[in-house]
Amino acid sequence: MSDKIDLSIDFCGKKFKNPFLLSSSPVSNSAEMVAQSFEAGWAGVVFKTLNSDRIPIIHPSPRMHCINYGNKREIAVQNVEMISDRPLKHNLMDFLYLKKKYPDNILIASIMGFSVEEWSYLAKAAEDNGADMLELNFSCPHISVEGAGYKVGQAFHLIEQFTAAVKKSVTIPVIAKMTPNITDMNEPALFAKNGGADAISAINTVRGISGVGLDDWVPKPNVFGKSAISGTSGPAVKPIGLNFIATMAQCQELGLPLSGIGGIETWIDALEFIVLGSSTIQVTTGIMHYGYGIVEDMIEGLSDCMAERGIKRVSDLVGKAVPNLYETNQFDFARQGITQYDTDLCIGCGQCYTVCNDAAGQALEWDSANRLPRLNEDKCLSCMLCQFICPVPGLITYKEMPAEWQRQETAVMDKNLEKDLNYQPFIMDAPAA
Ligand SMILES: Cc1cc2nc3c(=O)[nH]c(=O)nc-3n(C[C@H](O)[C@H](O)[C@H](O)COP(=O)(O)O)c2cc1C
Ligand code: SF4
Ligand code: SF4
Repeated sequence: MSDKIDLSIDFCGKKFKNPFLLSSSPVSNSAEMVAQSFEAGWAGVVFKTLNSDRIPIIHPSPRMHCINYGNKREIAVQNVEMISDRPLKHNLMDFLYLKKKYPDNILIASIMGFSVEEWSYLAKAAEDNGADMLELNFSCPHISVEGAGYKVGQAFHLIEQFTAAVKKSVTIPVIAKMTPNITDMNEPALFAKNGGADAISAINTVRGISGVGLDDWVPKPNVFGKSAISGTSGPAVKPIGLNFIATMAQCQELGLPLSGIGGIETWIDALEFIVLGSSTIQVTTGIMHYGYGIVEDMIEGLSDCMAERGIKRVSDLVGKAVPNLYETNQFDFARQGITQYDTDLCIGCGQCYTVCNDAAGQALEWDSANRLPRLNEDKCLSCMLCQFICPVPGLITYKEMPAEWQRQETAVMDKNLEKDLNYQPFIMDAPAA
């Protein structure tokens, strides 16, 4: 790792020694846990969402169910966990401990209230006991009382009202955490901005069902014969997180710093969130799978990648990929290509032939004597399915074709049927009959 690489980042006027934070969840449930994470290298924490002790919090049991897929475990986690079940004063004492012991790490208090008064109360309690910033949890996917949880995230006037109430009660920066259980996040984010939010974080978990018990017909997790549609996290939700972050980064009217969350496990995931507009990134499921130690690989991987490219400051990478996002109608459709096969590397598994034949252009023939695919270039759709399933990296690559090249049309089964057609071409401006 190069000494000259600067991973530190300014986020809402606070200096983070690197962009890597724990997100609010079981991984940030107590000072004992957070201290371990700081020792491992995480720059900051969004502490498990505080409750005001107004009602006792009891977590359902069991509280999670994982989707394992093939050899990969935990590609997604569904949870029905509530906000912190610890007494408020214990959480606040943990804040005092963390700020005393780790003054250079950033402590962000996540809060969720059910009324203006409760939001303000929690905000002030957190600030008075050392929180450097606040994150407003407008997004818990399974607390579905009107006026709380993800229902607030969908009721935009409440986002503005609660954010404004919090801003009036504290001086520290305020992040609004958004639910992905909507179509357009820019709109609620703008309401948060109107309420005074200093930054936006996204995403919280995605409402889903991770499985169904086929012996008892109870969806997962099975909480003594009952289940609930609830929050899904982990690698499977990363595309959803990247979508919302990038869309907010594109929104000039919003113009707030972003904290990216959703399925981040590696430095590559983190970098993708950064170049799509996140100044900081937050992790839960990656830690629930591999532990706090993943931050070492994140720091090393990101630093090495920056050193290789001669990029000194991570802040120079924030939003780098956003200008390359367009609408599909802005693509250059004149440029076309196909795949090319380095068959010297082929191990003859035949998977490319199967997918091309059953799901693509039927552009491959199978040479069974030599167990090799043979490409008919003119039929290749450049869908790249064969490349994605080929077990040998680098064997199948994309090749641009000359401008005069024409792809063969997909053949019809029987040209003689043209005479039997019952059909008129669609004409846009045809006068009404
Ligand atoms: C078991 C569990 C509990 C969570 N509890 C909270 C919470 O109390 N407050 C909150 O804002 N987000 C909570 N989250 C959401 C995470 O902070 C994060 O937004 C989400 O899991 C997506 O990130 P990931 O894919 O890295 O896990 C929880 C997530 C999990 C898996
Ligand atoms: S890119 Fe698609 S159409 Fe072309 S060979 Fe591969 S699977 Fe077949
Ligand atoms: S998928 Fe790859 S390795 Fe398998 S037959 Fe096709 S080209 Fe060869």
